[in-house]
Amino acid sequence: MILQHLRRFSFTVVCLCICLSSCSPVSPIGERQRRKVNAGIPPDLQSQFVQPQRSKLGMAVSAHPLATEAGVAMLEDGGNAMDAAVATALAISVVEPFSAGIGGGGFLLLREAETGKIRALDFRERAPMAASRDMYLDDEGKVKSRASLDGHLAVGVPGTVAGLYELHREYGKLPWSAVVKPAIRLAQEGFELSDRFIRFTQRRRDVLLQNTAAKAIFTRQGQMYEPGDILVQKDLANTLKTISQDPESFYSGKVAWAIAQDMQQHGGLITLNDLINYEPIWRDPICGNFRDARICSMPPPSSGGVHLLQILNIIGETDLADLGWQNPDALHLMVESMRIAYADRAAHLGDPDFVEVPVRQLTSKEYAKQRREEIQMDRVRRSDEVTAVDEATLQRLQGESTNTTHLTIVDRDRNVVSMTFTINGGFGAGVVAAGTGIVLNNEMDDFAIAPGVPNLYGLVGDEANAIAPRKTPLSSMTPIIATRNGRFLMAAGSPGGSTIITTVLQIALNGIEYNMNAGAAVSAPRLHHQWLPDVLWLERGGFGADTVQSLKERGHNIEVRDGWGNANAIFVTEDGTIQGAADPRGEGTAIGL
Ligand code: DON
Repeated sequence: MILQHLRRFSFTVVCLCICLSSCSPVSPIGERQRRKVNAGIPPDLQSQFVQPQRSKLGMAVSAHPLATEAGVAMLEDGGNAMDAAVATALAISVVEPFSAGIGGGGFLLLREAETGKIRALDFRERAPMAASRDMYLDDEGKVKSRASLDGHLAVGVPGTVAGLYELHREYGKLPWSAVVKPAIRLAQEGFELSDRFIRFTQRRRDVLLQNTAAKAIFTRQGQMYEPGDILVQKDLANTLKTISQDPESFYSGKVAWAIAQDMQQHGGLITLNDLINYEPIWRDPICGNFRDARICSMPPPSSGGVHLLQILNIIGETDLADLGWQNPDALHLMVESMRIAYADRAAHLGDPDFVEVPVRQLTSKEYAKQRREEIQMDRVRRSDEVTAVDEATLQRLQGESTNTTHLTIVDRDRNVVSMTFTINGGFGAGVVAAGTGIVLNNEMDDFAIAPGVPNLYGLVGDEANAIAPRKTPLSSMTPIIATRNGRFLMAAGSPGGSTIITTVLQIALNGIEYNMNAGAAVSAPRLHHQWLPDVLWLERGGFGADTVQSLKERGHNIEVRDGWGNANAIFVTEDGTIQGAADPRGEGTAIGL
């Protein structure tokens, strides 16, 4: 029965391993659980894990082969991880316009090789000045269908260009024009469309056809492209050339004017002033200890770091590896911890520049211990039995001193960039600002458009994440950088809306707790729970029948789903070898120097 399940766990990338030693999914990044894990992962499953690329010098990993190539070219030309990250991100704008790009925003974590310091940059979209709390409700207070998802009203003020320029201004070694160049070439000369690209255009066909500029670029006079066709994006190439000469043009020059004018003509809210006032924000990363690793991630306005650490704290000292790979007790504990974290997310998380977010309390070990005691190992608590932490407890807790894409880059000095950025849904708002070639985001949907109304990913929220002018919508993006004894250990991240936090959690556990290599860690089957809806997702074919049965007996409401997320990761082994791997669920690649 287990084998049947495993056979159905079909990846698009099949491991080409022949020799046992190089195929081992076990990473030497820690010795603690090596024996236990080797015994735990069924060989059939192991053989389907992607093999990591290896290098001693540097590595770029992204969701698209051409974007990874752009990044590695920068490393080869003497650029650092920051140069490579900018080149990769801009190339993603061209080759994955459905997932992320200069019309959106994101978060990055970086590690400075020289000092070992980890910093976080928030270049997420902000609500326009004219945005208001009830802007997606009709006169009767009902939610206007898809208003926060499709069309100009759904667009938040984009931050990607400002973020990338800020990163480059502080750290870049190569000239700005050199890091923009690969993206210009890809837009100008075109690139071959993959099955994945076509699937995304098909899914958003209706909305793309409604926008004249989007229709002109992503269809051939209304006919959908096919895999293997070449897509040239002339307007985007020109916009990138303008940005290459003057990055400010996106916020106060030619590009800004074009965006503001398009907004005005189509009932959007973004004005030139909104663009002029946009600024990326350096924030203190949120860090916590798990086993002998220190894991840092994004603080609010992402919920990612807070809840990643919260879940790890609730798991606490329970030795998951000792229980064994996919042991039902271990999975149950993980799921019940996720349920608690997402309940807190809905009540307490929002933009820290507008609301007080109890970060220290939610990530404190004391609070985790208290919530751990609520978990019953033999049965689930339904989500209506699980509530967010109340105000009185928050007062008492002192706390301690937490269609999207991810890229991970390490250079020879061990500068690291871990960046997740997005335009939110596939092709964002389905809007291209006329003449610019820029696909604009629909990030406004990440606000709680009304209390308890689920967003695109089923996430609910309340007052803390209500819309306000210039406020940043709450995110789940969870780029991480982990260190051990001050040395770089791993970096990872993933798209996937609400599932991002649990995907990154499982990759971190796979590396640190189960001692897998980077390839196995991103390949291994995943599960997900987000409090509401009260459903446990299991990846199709990834869990044995006995495990599923044991979870069912505890009362889990199980839904089997095709794989989600499109993660990538870089791990460093104790001998200094860099391992890079892209998720076999997507089409990304890892390339070592
Ligand atoms: O910021 C967030 O949490 C979402 N806008 C991310 C969207 C996403 O990951 C879409 N990918 N499947």
